[in-house]
Amino acid sequence: MEGQGTQQTGKKVIFSGIQPSGTLTLGNYLGAIRNWKQLEDEYQCIYSVVDLHAITVRQEPAQLRRRCTELMAIYLAAGLNPEKTLIYCQSHVPAHAELAWILGCYTYLGELQRMTQYKDKAQKHAANLNAGLLTYPVLMAADILLYQADLVPIGADQKQHLELTRDIAIRFNGAYGDTFVVPDGYFPKVGARIRSLQEPARKMSKSDPEDTYIALLDTPEAIRRKFKRAVTDSEASVRFDPEGKPGVSNLMSILGAITGDSMEKIEADFAGQGYGAFKTAVADAVVAELEPIQNEHRRLMADKAYIETIMRASAERASAIAARTMRKVRRKVGLAPFSL
Ligand code: TRP
Repeated sequence: MEGQGTQQTGKKVIFSGIQPSGTLTLGNYLGAIRNWKQLEDEYQCIYSVVDLHAITVRQEPAQLRRRCTELMAIYLAAGLNPEKTLIYCQSHVPAHAELAWILGCYTYLGELQRMTQYKDKAQKHAANLNAGLLTYPVLMAADILLYQADLVPIGADQKQHLELTRDIAIRFNGAYGDTFVVPDGYFPKVGARIRSLQEPARKMSKSDPEDTYIALLDTPEAIRRKFKRAVTDSEASVRFDPEGKPGVSNLMSILGAITGDSMEKIEADFAGQGYGAFKTAVADAVVAELEPIQNEHRRLMADKAYIETIMRASAERASAIAARTMRKVRRKVGLAPFSL
């Protein structure tokens, strides 16, 4: 089905979500949140803090609650405008869970068991291999289809889940006639693949040791220290060669993602200079980018009432959009009509 935009705006809809389950990294920021702000005018953007996804692994309740508020504050601190963009907490809109149940009845076990992320998680969480780990992508499909999203910004690791979302939407539309927009992925050009500072063969990840990633809320001192210790090579020349010089190339990508400079320009700027000066420049750029966000984040976290106001208003607007899809789905599936 073709996207028609939301009834309010007529704009194409973008939906994405981040789990409030850990520290956000510089990779999350450069690969996702930083780009979101640029989409705000052209699209109706909807960004969710997906706490229902987070509970597929055990969370400490107080910590989960705090991280949800914190992630909301990060969305806001990164410059998203809550008047335009919907930023809300997934569990505040019960239709996510409701649609996930219905879509689960149109998803085959074999499809879910084939998901690589499920297979990884099944190994990692063998002691708590709950059904939610398996049905995780159905909830993600519900998130996306509920808002009739046209585009879904995601990292490469979520591509398979988006494919499944499309398959479910096409299957449902095939059975009942046009109901859901079939969404496309939206893949950022820069910053999508920020790598570990110690093992650049790996993606920068918050589940790796601390000195391998930059956390969004790291102090400037920690950021400088981590870049100083980042692995490079023995050639002492700033040259972009992801295969031969993965460490240096990663640092160049980080710098380029922030400044917008090409790799050629960075090479020219640092020609004849050692890695010391280069690393300092990368650290300075990252600190300059993150410091204002951190300050705003701190300010917002001291004003929880404001964050709650935004959360409530956004959840209300999100619920209204979701309700339209749910009415349609209930009718198509044949659930008994009712009105309160
Ligand atoms: N599964 C995604 C991740 O771990 C998070 C997510 C949940 C999501 N629902 C979504 C992303 C809907 C995009 C759209 O990164």
